[in-house]
Amino acid sequence: MAQDFAKVGVVGLGTMGAGIAEVLARAGIDVVGVELNDETLARGLGHIRHSTDRAVSRGKLTEADRDALFGRIHAGTDLSAVAACGLVVEAVPERIEDKRAVLAELDALCPSGTIIATNTSSLSITELAAGTSRPSRVVGTHWFNPAPVMGLVEIIRTVVTDPAVLADLEMLVTKVGKTAVVAGDRAGFIANALLFGYLNNAVRMLEAHYATREDIDAAMRFGCGHPMGPLALLDLIGLDAAYEILDSIYHTSRDHLHAPAPLLKQLVTAGMLGRKTGRGFYTYAAPDSSEIVDAVTSDSVMSSASGTAAGTGTRRSGAPTRPVRTIGVIGTGTMASGIIEVAARSGYDVVLRARGQAKIADVRKKLEWSLDKAVAKGRITLDERAATLARVRATTDLATFADCDLIIEAVVEDLEVKRALFAEIDAIARPGAILATTTSSLPVIECATATSRPQDVVGMHWFNPAQVMRLVEIVPTVLTADDVTATVLEVARAAGKHPVLCADRAGFIVNALLFPYLNDAVRMLEAHYADVEAIDTAMKVGCAHPMGPFELADVVGLDVTLAIVRTLYLEFREPGYAPAPLLEHLVKAGYLGRKTRRGFRVH
Ligand SMILES: NC(=O)c1ccc[n+]([C@@H]2O[C@H](COP(=O)([O-])OP(=O)(O)OC[C@H]3O[C@@H](n4cnc5c(N)ncnc54)[C@H](O)[C@@H]3O)[C@@H](O)[C@H]2O)c1
Repeated sequence: MAQDFAKVGVVGLGTMGAGIAEVLARAGIDVVGVELNDETLARGLGHIRHSTDRAVSRGKLTEADRDALFGRIHAGTDLSAVAACGLVVEAVPERIEDKRAVLAELDALCPSGTIIATNTSSLSITELAAGTSRPSRVVGTHWFNPAPVMGLVEIIRTVVTDPAVLADLEMLVTKVGKTAVVAGDRAGFIANALLFGYLNNAVRMLEAHYATREDIDAAMRFGCGHPMGPLALLDLIGLDAAYEILDSIYHTSRDHLHAPAPLLKQLVTAGMLGRKTGRGFYTYAAPDSSEIVDAVTSDSVMSSASGTAAGTGTRRSGAPTRPVRTIGVIGTGTMASGIIEVAARSGYDVVLRARGQAKIADVRKKLEWSLDKAVAKGRITLDERAATLARVRATTDLATFADCDLIIEAVVEDLEVKRALFAEIDAIARPGAILATTTSSLPVIECATATSRPQDVVGMHWFNPAQVMRLVEIVPTVLTADDVTATVLEVARAAGKHPVLCADRAGFIVNALLFPYLNDAVRMLEAHYADVEAIDTAMKVGCAHPMGPFELADVVGLDVTLAIVRTLYLEFREPGYAPAPLLEHLVKAGYLGRKTRRGFRVH
């Protein structure tokens, strides 16, 4: 018969335990909370008080409900108080000896039917369960921080877990308003195993001066819709915890990508543990504050990673810019149409070049359709619509570009085609005109060296749909002139975008961080560790990503995903970047995602 868990024990009322106790009590469950001593108990209850007071001040909880919630929390320092609970959740610090000791005590205290759950993020549940006399009733319940806010609980089973225990816990998690996913006992479970490879990669990127911490974080927020950038998220998680989690994932995966980045270790050793100590990748107003006090924007320091690598040093702000009035766009695809609209709406005169009149009509139709939508949504007026259209001229003749100040190439992702086009542009563009490529994976330097003026060539990687996505990655090569970089930064800002600077390496910032993560998700699926639904749910609900990895891969296209993963693998030669065989097979089978109505899901 299912257990109803009217009373649940929570051992350790720290960051996680306090949050778990609050969630349970809020759902009407009696909680028996246990702490080490009076001081830590007061601190634990203080966490709950602080969090519920905030909920009251935000109108999310009434004062009466808060008082009732506190009435259901019975907290003390005597562990034997949990003996009457049907479930006890352990949330003491992430040290195996502490956890073992608490579990042994609980095992001795509680009747044999009591379920013991551990909130560990990285230790082996199997090992912890095996140390008790009831391994079939010891499981992992991995909550996310902050527990009252985050919607996911991973329930971790071992090979000996009683299925009835899992069913009972799934019911409980649903009852308290969270989403449960069940997974096996593997380091990092689902969410952390995928998240931490990505976070570590971001630290390595910073370490290599590939981009600034602000630009890495902004790229993932504005390019992928993540609620936080990876470095700010690490500061929130705690760099010591992150180090331990990565280390334990590395010990099972043996994948170099999980070996904690040296910079992480250095910060931990220096006592810079993130928000909790007031300093980590960023500096905060005070310990536990979320207010960053040392933010540096690309306005104040134009630090180009490629420039640094080439020994040209940090580029200071105030670099002169070149005047830009007229922008030429070559191409008629999704990206080109989006850029034409953004540029024209921002007040630039735009010349678009297509290979025939039919294509020109096509772009005009797309532009009108998109502007009509903006009018219908009240974003622009009819007059602005007319003015935007009046700013766009179309031509089939590249020679018309002779008067353009900035020429943006957005044709097919094929190096030979792009190089030939750059040579052609070189012959007609006026001296001093800036030539930009929108390539998402080819080296910008290859386009630059196809011209006689590599100092004027730069990468401008927009995101789809360009009208909506705020990010533009600006990619100077080792030969790009400072005023060229400064100018495209300014143009992107004038177009309402958030530009970031990054080195001319495959994937720039976003794709270099995103696609290895997508590939990792495919490998997790391939290993039958979790299914598509569980993995997508874990990342969406546990990490607040707008889409799960399979949902995203189906939108991007599996062929495009594979091509980018291959490019990254070839450039960085990281064994962990090798495309997952399942991804290759799906592409070979013609399952390319939404566009073929079948990818990881059937659409
Ligand atoms: N912080 C996170 O983001 C996060 C997320 C998911 C899971 N976890 C896991 O949750 C667990 C707790 O982490 P935390 O961040 O809440 O740590 P924490 O240090 O904030 O809290 C641990 C609490 O346990 C208390 N404690 C220590 N020994 C005890 C004992 N024998 N009996 C009773 N109380 C005891 C401590 O006084 C402290 O208040 C860890 O296993 C951690 O890996 C943490």
